[in-house]
Amino acid sequence: MKSAVRSPWLVLAIVLSLCLSLSFASWDAEDVGRGSRRWQEGGDEGRSGGSGRPYHFGQESYREWAKSRHGHFKVLERFDHELLRGSIGDYRVAYLDAAPRAFLQPSHHDADEIAFVREGEGVLVLLRNGKRESFCIREGDVIVIPAGSIVYSANTHRSKWLRVVMLINPVSTPGRFQEFFLIGSGDERPQSFLSVFSDEVIQAALNTRREDVDRVFESKSKGEGEIYEASEEQIRELSRSCSRGGRGGGGSGSEKEDIQPRSLTGEKPRYSNKHGRFHQITGDQCHHLRKLDMDVTLVNITRGSMTALKYTTRSTRIYVVVEGRDGYFEMACPHISSSGRSERREHEQEREREHGQGRRSEEREREQGRGRRSEEREQEQGHGREQEKSRGYRQVRAQIKVGSVIVLPAGHPATFVAGNDGNLALLSFGVGANNDEEVFVTGGNSVLKQLDEAAKALAFPQQARELADRVIRAQPESVFVAGPQQQRRVADM
Ligand SMILES: *[C@@H]1O[C@H](CO)[C@@H](O)[C@H](O)[C@H]1NC(C)=O
Repeated sequence: MKSAVRSPWLVLAIVLSLCLSLSFASWDAEDVGRGSRRWQEGGDEGRSGGSGRPYHFGQESYREWAKSRHGHFKVLERFDHELLRGSIGDYRVAYLDAAPRAFLQPSHHDADEIAFVREGEGVLVLLRNGKRESFCIREGDVIVIPAGSIVYSANTHRSKWLRVVMLINPVSTPGRFQEFFLIGSGDERPQSFLSVFSDEVIQAALNTRREDVDRVFESKSKGEGEIYEASEEQIRELSRSCSRGGRGGGGSGSEKEDIQPRSLTGEKPRYSNKHGRFHQITGDQCHHLRKLDMDVTLVNITRGSMTALKYTTRSTRIYVVVEGRDGYFEMACPHISSSGRSERREHEQEREREHGQGRRSEEREREQGRGRRSEEREQEQGHGREQEKSRGYRQVRAQIKVGSVIVLPAGHPATFVAGNDGNLALLSFGVGANNDEEVFVTGGNSVLKQLDEAAKALAFPQQARELADRVIRAQPESVFVAGPQQQRRVADM
């Protein structure tokens, strides 16, 4: 008897999950197909240019999830390349653009969201813990929206768009999230989730006739989808009670205080010089970020300048370019040196063939040693199987501009370079950030300065000992330094 009752539900559950996985499958298959094609395109490009795959995603990697005259919601394809899946495969990047006075229908997500207001101002209302919290948000703010909160929002500006970058961390299915609407938007999608319940359940649950329930939750006449325009008066009404949260009042670290928006750019930068500014909000300042094992940073690089070469010890950082048109990044990657060794090495071998042995072979041995180590590391991580012997590193590089997404995995040294057109600003979400550290390879705070004399004597070629000391000290600036264009005089020396 028991199983007879259960089985129809089981069948329904299977059918439902099949539907879901089918619709996801088509999305994913498309993603994967496009990804691998680009991967090949990018696979053999030279040291300059290149697509930067699988660490770089351009505008073409976003899909529209919702679109109307009054705004759109775009989601970046999944991080499902094998090199990324393990660290950030669960996360999604999304962009929300809302026109002046756009209103976004109440809904909840099965995901935590971390939002950064890139441009504009608005009101954001959260229904959670039996309460309504209404926040005024503005450019530079970071706000954490806990999974399951019912959220509605509006652009409160008359003429400026509201633009928000989000990192979405699904709580039920890794890398996949859904939006749930209680109130449908007329004949357009989305529909209300109430519509799938049976008449008798709905009538009993709401103590109301089905027709009336449908009239309330299903037949909105606007027909504009989930983003539409509010009147000025409605906007005024919505934003009347919004606040920045009573920062001064209650005990710090309380739940309420955690949710309120924090200005990432408004506070004193953690580091700054004439070449750039670095802002950060960590788990120490925001309990929710600590729980999510994340942090948020903003790196604002002055035009023509660059960041010192550095890597993170534990976090994988997902960067989204929020300002700038002509920057680029470079990263050293041991994993994708398969089809070739590092380009540099090939050049060197060629030169070697031309000029005979001598000093070159010493260098080569050192490089092979390095290569062997990275090869072992790859095999431990299970990437060794489909790779040929990998010796050395491959340069990953791509031009970047507003909207580009760059992933820097832990341990991978990298740099961002701003073009001459203007500043390059990058928002970044650190995943696995709680015990993270940044290690600077170059600059005034270079880790090389900590090598002791004995180790230096052993590690560097004997004939270059003094030169090594000079090189280690040559860059006086830290964190942000003059870029390649500004430093041309050094090359000329
Ligand atoms: C970056 O810095 C410039 C110059 O100070 C500033 O105008 C710009 O708003 C900053 N960008 C961001 C995203 O904070």
